[in-house]
Amino acid sequence: MQKLEVFGANKLKGQVNISGSKNASLPILAATLLSSKKIYLNNLPNVKDIKTMINLLQSLGSKIKFDKKKLIIDNSKQQKKFASYSLVKTMRAGILVLGPLLAKFGSAKVSLPGGCAIGTRPVDIHLNGLSKLGVKYKIIQGYVHATAPRGLIGSKIRFSKISVGATENLIIAATLAKGTTILSNCAIEPEIKDLINFLIKAGCNLKWVAKRSLKIIGVKKINETTYPIMFDRIEAGTYLVAAAATKGNLKIKNVIPNIIQTEINILKKIGAKIKIKKDEIHIVGNKKIKSINIKTAPYPGFPTDLQAQMMVLLCKANKQSVIKEDIFENRFMHVAELNRMGAKISTIGNKAKVSGNIRFEAAELMATDLRASVSLILAALTANGKSVINRIYHLDRGYENIEHKLKKVGAKIRRVN
Ligand code: EPZ
Repeated sequence: MQKLEVFGANKLKGQVNISGSKNASLPILAATLLSSKKIYLNNLPNVKDIKTMINLLQSLGSKIKFDKKKLIIDNSKQQKKFASYSLVKTMRAGILVLGPLLAKFGSAKVSLPGGCAIGTRPVDIHLNGLSKLGVKYKIIQGYVHATAPRGLIGSKIRFSKISVGATENLIIAATLAKGTTILSNCAIEPEIKDLINFLIKAGCNLKWVAKRSLKIIGVKKINETTYPIMFDRIEAGTYLVAAAATKGNLKIKNVIPNIIQTEINILKKIGAKIKIKKDEIHIVGNKKIKSINIKTAPYPGFPTDLQAQMMVLLCKANKQSVIKEDIFENRFMHVAELNRMGAKISTIGNKAKVSGNIRFEAAELMATDLRASVSLILAALTANGKSVINRIYHLDRGYENIEHKLKKVGAKIRRVN
């Protein structure tokens, strides 16, 4: 089992190039199942979840190869409709193949994703939406057995709760449905807009008709296309927080700054100096870090995927802050580990009280989920001495070359077996 050794404390200085977005790549990869033509994708991040999704597509019969930095996906002979538990259990986004398989074949058998450290991860909103498109389904031994006897029929669907994955599944399914679908109360994360841009480029007919309402007119097929995946806004936010926490000086490249305006505004309020250029954010951490109360929310609110990282920064603020986790029911797994490093964080339900003026102590630590793992690295970077972070397979799911990128900007970090 690999682990990371981090020798702190040091300031991060230099330039970080942000990779493609894991959470934009996954739904777009799933959507390629709609096509019987070749699809070319650029800027995919080299992370475990992308490899898992590629394996899942290959298990469904997709022919996939890499040509330099471009992924070539050929689904012209893709016929299988069974997505196995062994692949879906490690990456809950596997449920996103359900919509395209139903749209293309009218039937599918896909494993329920199962829960993870941050929550039970139900898919009821996905299934309720698909039923409105004419899908009949039964859950048998942990699998969704779904059929659309008369094909998918366009309909008006209002999501009972804002869900990124359910919005993506329904968008993909509705692109080939007969007639018009109106989706209301959609999630509007940038990754969803990237999925929509990809589908439009491939000849689909989608249009926002209100802030959270989308009109989709079904088409017969999707065309061959090449698409560049957007930047990973959570990776970018992670490095911004790292600069603020280590009082460093970082240039974050390959980004669209206004997409993370909420995070930038909060970091400015905390005291970081931030300058924006076209595709670059220059951040200089401030000696004094001001406390602030944060609540996670669907986009454009503060992202739940940055909550753990922000908690580390607020441990170093001048007084107590409160963080409210309003998206997932159990996303404070990092708290116990941070408290072992000297933090004073108490949680009641989905609220965490984060004491300020903490000097983290190096320690041996355990990663529990993707974003909790990276928060432990941030804390270790500010702690004097050697910290060891175990179970870093969580980290490798969503951060490309993290120790190389951190080393390049002055971190003393190495991966050991
Ligand atoms: C996506 O997960 C992201 N994953 C998550 O990122 C992210 O934290 C989350 O959106 C919220 O922004 C990918 O894009 C691959 P949801 P998703 O459906 O789609 C409940 C990371 O670290 N819900 O918006 O699963 C759900 O339990 C990952 O990169 C239902 O109740 O999130 C949660 O409480 C972690 N029923 C809330 O809604 C459903 O059918 C939001 O979930 C679906 C969701």
